[in-house]
Amino acid sequence: MKGKLLINFALIICFFCCSSGRVIESPHYKVIHVESDFEIRQYKQVSWMSALVQGTASFEKSTQQGFHRLYQYIHGANSNSSHFLITSPVTTTIMASKRQPEHLIRYYLPNGNAENPPLPDSELNVQFEKWRSNCLAVRRFPGFAKDDNINKEIDALKSSLSKYLPEGAAISEYTIAQYNSSRRLLGRLNEVWLDVSGFTAEGCQPL
Ligand SMILES: *[C@@H]1O[C@H](CO)[C@@H](O)[C@H](O)[C@H]1NC(C)=O
Ligand SMILES: *[C@@H]1O[C@H](CO)[C@@H](O)[C@H](O)[C@H]1NC(C)=O
Repeated sequence: MKGKLLINFALIICFFCCSSGRVIESPHYKVIHVESDFEIRQYKQVSWMSALVQGTASFEKSTQQGFHRLYQYIHGANSNSSHFLITSPVTTTIMASKRQPEHLIRYYLPNGNAENPPLPDSELNVQFEKWRSNCLAVRRFPGFAKDDNINKEIDALKSSLSKYLPEGAAISEYTIAQYNSSRRLLGRLNEVWLDVSGFTAEGCQPL
């Protein structure tokens, strides 16, 4: 009797753990160099749906607007009325070289949809995009990614990298990757990504 109760109890615990602990897909990468405050990763090909947002300099507003369009795409606003899995991270690329502020918000397409995803409804204005294998310098930071803290994190990564990059190496795009739903208040993970593929930093060769 006691044994049976224990087994039932174990099953119940397992059910809750397994159903809430669903694995969230993220892009695959290999770490090829580690420093105390950043690392270099080599990513394989990655497929994204992306939403360009123009006309606001605010990282937070752009991310919200872009994500809203992507959210509709992954919840059925596509040629197949497909619903997609939640993946992470959601990324926001800040294109610093443009005269007008531009941000590109991206949703990572999970494995089954990485090759021929259904077409987005045209009014969403989101695009399918495929990255070739590339090398990223990555710095982690906790909390919420906000207009008033991301520049500090970007600058910190730039300065850590400066001794590795060639003199005058121009980096004009910075990406902020956010891994957790906004409902999570603690234990949040964000990253700054800088594409260093062009600089063959530390022997990072595209695959
Ligand atoms: C469309 O949906 C069907 C049924 O869910 C699925 O089998 C098919 O692969 C989907 N097509 C695309 C292009 O995603
Ligand atoms: C936030 O996301 C990271 C990366 O997926 C994960 O390791 C961490 O557990 C998440 N934090 C919370 C509170 O869920």
